Amino acid sequence: MNISLPARELFPLLSESVNGKPLIYLDNAATTQKPVAVLDASRHYYETINSNIHRGTHALARAATAAYEDARKTVAHHLGCQDPDELIFTSGCTDAINLVASCLSSQLGAGDEILISTLEHHSNIVPWQMACERSGATLKVIPCDDTGVLDLIAFEQLLSDRTKVLAMGWISNAFGTVHPIVEMTAKAKKVGALVMIDAAQAVPHLEIDVTKIGCDLLAFSGHKVYAPTGIGALWGRRECLEKLPPYRGGGEMIKEVSFSGTTYNDIPFKYEAGTPNIEGAIALAAALRFVDAIGKPSIHAHETALIRAAEQALMGIDGIRFYGPADRCGALSFAIDGVHAYDLGTFLDQMGVAVRTGHHCCQPLMARFGISGTTRASFALYNTLDEISRFGEATSRAVAMLR
Ligand code: ALA
Repeated sequence: MNISLPARELFPLLSESVNGKPLIYLDNAATTQKPVAVLDASRHYYETINSNIHRGTHALARAATAAYEDARKTVAHHLGCQDPDELIFTSGCTDAINLVASCLSSQLGAGDEILISTLEHHSNIVPWQMACERSGATLKVIPCDDTGVLDLIAFEQLLSDRTKVLAMGWISNAFGTVHPIVEMTAKAKKVGALVMIDAAQAVPHLEIDVTKIGCDLLAFSGHKVYAPTGIGALWGRRECLEKLPPYRGGGEMIKEVSFSGTTYNDIPFKYEAGTPNIEGAIALAAALRFVDAIGKPSIHAHETALIRAAEQALMGIDGIRFYGPADRCGALSFAIDGVHAYDLGTFLDQMGVAVRTGHHCCQPLMARFGISGTTRASFALYNTLDEISRFGEATSRAVAMLR
């Protein structure tokens, strides 16, 4: 596969019109569109090998099992993991964080602390709050400065032998801030904390190597990296996953069941109760192969050029404020004096431009900045510089109308 960017023609939905206008899709941090390679993988699965896995001796069951386990190897490899048993398929990043937070609860108690940051998505806040409610542990929050960059001095001051978990997003979905997770992981490991990285916004843009990060667990969602919704993955160090209790009970996660008790399966099956999203796993592997064929450095360079162009296109608008640091990744969040984000988003939609407005599932971050929300344009490998220029023009027109 030799794919050059922007590979817009490989994404059928992008040739649709919206409100009678050519679609300019800039809501990629919410979900990405799907390339033909992924759509074909889903269709091929259902047309040729659809069956349940790990349960049947017949040919279809064997073929589906082989494809699913092959997908596990592809996803593990994409994360720099050599042992596919360390890769658990989940329904998404939220599911993976809930899995870990729920399973860890029984190993935490009063006096223990869970550390997160001000820039977390609700999915990396609420599961930990629930874990605190269950265990008696305390949630601590790393503050950020006015540019949306974490205060690393405060982070170090918050770390202590009470810190049992550091749960960090790698890239802020709201502001595009890229956190120094390698450095932060190393510091948290020094006090003996377990480190979990929410890589939902990082996997589409950055090369991932869990061995270089040094974390214990890392999760992401497939749909933000060109795969279908309803599939994601949790990577965890073998010893860490083996030590945690199981999550959901049911078929597949057991070795022996009797009415007097159950013995649990080995990883990864211990965490995959019930029939998994077989087609989703296969399509996720297809998406990651597609991304790898282009290469993350090329994707990142292309998207960085788009962000720079978007900043330029919007910069002249009177009363515009950008959120997040200058080296933001994946997303450009902004507010314009006298223009409500919802109104702007609605106007842009009429012009065929899809952006997200509001709190971006980060209410505590919005509260920190004293705002109810922003308008967020977020970028993918298929966006073009021409789209960015039309987005800039549409935004200027909207502001002129709305003020
Ligand atoms: N987490 C997704 C977003 O940032 C839904 O839009």
